[in-house]
Amino acid sequence: MTLQAIRYNRGSLEILDQLLLPDETHYFAINDTTDGWSAIKKMQVRGAPAIAIVGCLSLAVELTNTEIDSVSTLKELVENKLDYLVTARPTAINMAEAAFRLKGMIYQLAKGDDYKPQDAKLMIIKECEGMLEKDININKRLGKFGGDHLLSHNAKPPVNIITHCNTGSLATAGYGTALGVIRYLHENEKLGQVYCTETRPYNQGARLTAYELLHEKIEASLICDSAAAACLKEKNIHAVIVGADRVVANGDTANKIGTCQIAIAARYYNIPFFVACPHSTFDPSTQTGEDITIEQRPHSEITSLKGVKIAADINCWNPAFDVTPAELITGGIITEFGVFKPQEIKEKLQNISPKN
Ligand code: MRU
Repeated sequence: MTLQAIRYNRGSLEILDQLLLPDETHYFAINDTTDGWSAIKKMQVRGAPAIAIVGCLSLAVELTNTEIDSVSTLKELVENKLDYLVTARPTAINMAEAAFRLKGMIYQLAKGDDYKPQDAKLMIIKECEGMLEKDININKRLGKFGGDHLLSHNAKPPVNIITHCNTGSLATAGYGTALGVIRYLHENEKLGQVYCTETRPYNQGARLTAYELLHEKIEASLICDSAAAACLKEKNIHAVIVGADRVVANGDTANKIGTCQIAIAARYYNIPFFVACPHSTFDPSTQTGEDITIEQRPHSEITSLKGVKIAADINCWNPAFDVTPAELITGGIITEFGVFKPQEIKEKLQNISPKN
């Protein structure tokens, strides 16, 4: 059985509370966009693709349960709710990308008198629903591109990999991005050892990736974030593969805090560093990593763990993400359209329609 972070049937959305994993498997209902916003903000669901999918499905549920009397009312409602959802977490671009796409769609539906409100509403709902299946297909495509690329360029199997944060079924609709590449290698019996970092302070690696790897019976070891350089030096690592929250025009990439230091160490040890992400994580309107808004999280995420104080009463700096400069992404950016050098990502992706 594959792990499922999101359960959806028209009019009903439940998500797995990722704050309680791995100790407790608890699904709870998201009844509207207010619930969706709150679950994203509290990180009960996290991971750039999953944030967008849950945000949009919370809109789909709200629309299903709301009577709409005109397409212009629908347009105003959809636009307001999307603007609101985008504010929950600022760094990951996928929710903003989905909002842009859905706003384009409602704009077209509201132009002229061609659609009855019920029909227009159903079209928006179906577009949101389609994101689930589409995301799994995208992840499978990028997993294969990444796995085949590694085997033909960088590594003789069994391939040993370091990954950071959580990029698997819990961070997406299923299969995963960086973890999708790992899964593909595992399915094809080409995988050696996976090393997953704890990913302080929220411990996405220790709680979520470790849980997924065990669930999939993938050979893996957990390491402290501070062990990444030593692991690169000593464990015959063939590649580092991480996910992304936003890839900008020049190839700079925002991902979970701690990503950049692994990229720096990987370059020192001459080990290729890859980013794996869907096309929807690409933000061509932002030129460089300097322009990405980095989310700051509460100090309590560093100073306590499950309500137990683990630090002195000191001031904290807790950015949720850092930016890895394009030049450190030495392996390339793995997408559902192929593996590209970060410097060519703009040229390769900006003219591809999200429908592809
Ligand atoms: O703060 P999070 O847990 O939402 O951060 C998640 C990451 O940084 C992931 O690497 C990224 O979103 C890609 S998930 C496929």
